[in-house]
Amino acid sequence: MAKLLSLPKPRLESSASLEEMIYRRRSVRNYAPKEVNLEEIGQLLWAVQGRADTPAYRTTVPSAGALYPLEVYAVLIDGVYHYEPSEHALRSLQDVDQRMELCRAAYNQNFIRQAPLTIVLTAVFARIEGKYGRARGPRYVYIEAGHAAQNLLLQAVALGLGSVPVGAFDDQKVKSILRLPPNHEPLYLLPVGRPR
Ligand SMILES: Cc1cc2nc3c(=O)[nH]c(=O)nc-3n(C[C@H](O)[C@H](O)[C@H](O)COP(=O)(O)O)c2cc1C
Repeated sequence: MAKLLSLPKPRLESSASLEEMIYRRRSVRNYAPKEVNLEEIGQLLWAVQGRADTPAYRTTVPSAGALYPLEVYAVLIDGVYHYEPSEHALRSLQDVDQRMELCRAAYNQNFIRQAPLTIVLTAVFARIEGKYGRARGPRYVYIEAGHAAQNLLLQAVALGLGSVPVGAFDDQKVKSILRLPPNHEPLYLLPVGRPR
C-alpha cells in the first residue's frame, strides 16, 4: 500500500470575508517560483472535497443523492497524490515531477508547468448513473465539479494564492500521465500558486 501523508487539520476561521473573496477572485495564470506549504495544500483540498463533521460522510461540497462521484488528485513538484477525504491525507502514487507532461496534455498552457500545485478533479460516473441514469447523471456530475472548483478558487484567494479553472486538456493524456484508474474521468485542472 502506497504511503499516506497526513495533512494539517483545516482551519475553520479567518479574517477573510466571503464577500471580499468573491469580489477579489480572478483567474491567475502567472505564479512565482515558490512552493505551497502543507497547511495550504490541506486547506485547499479540504475546500474541494473535505469531510465536514456531521453526518459522518458529508463533504464541503453538495452532492446529488449524496453519492459523491468526485475523486481528487494533487500534482505537486515531488509527485502525484490521491486525496483521501476520510483521513484528510494524501496517498502518494508517483514520486516524479509530472508538471511538464501535464502542461503538454493541456495544450502547453504554460502556467501548469509553473504551478507548484495542480488539483485534478475526476469523477466516477457510474456512482451517480446507477440512480440518475445516463441522461441526468453526467449533468449532476458536472454541476458538482463546479461547486468543488468554486470552493477551491475562493479558498485560494483567502490564502493569498491564485488559481484558474482549466477545462482545455486531452483526457486520455491526463489519464495516462496520472495513471488514473480507468473509471476516474478527468474533468477539471486547478493549478494553484502565488500570484506573481
Ligand atoms: C469551464 C471552464 C473552462 C475553462 N478553461 C480554461 C482553460 O483551459 N484555460 C484557461 O486559461 N482558462 C480557462 N477558464 C477560465 C476562463 O478563461 C476565465 O474564467 C474567464 O476568462 C473570466 O476571467 P476571470 O476568471 O478572471 O473572471 C475556464 C473557465 C471555465 C468556467
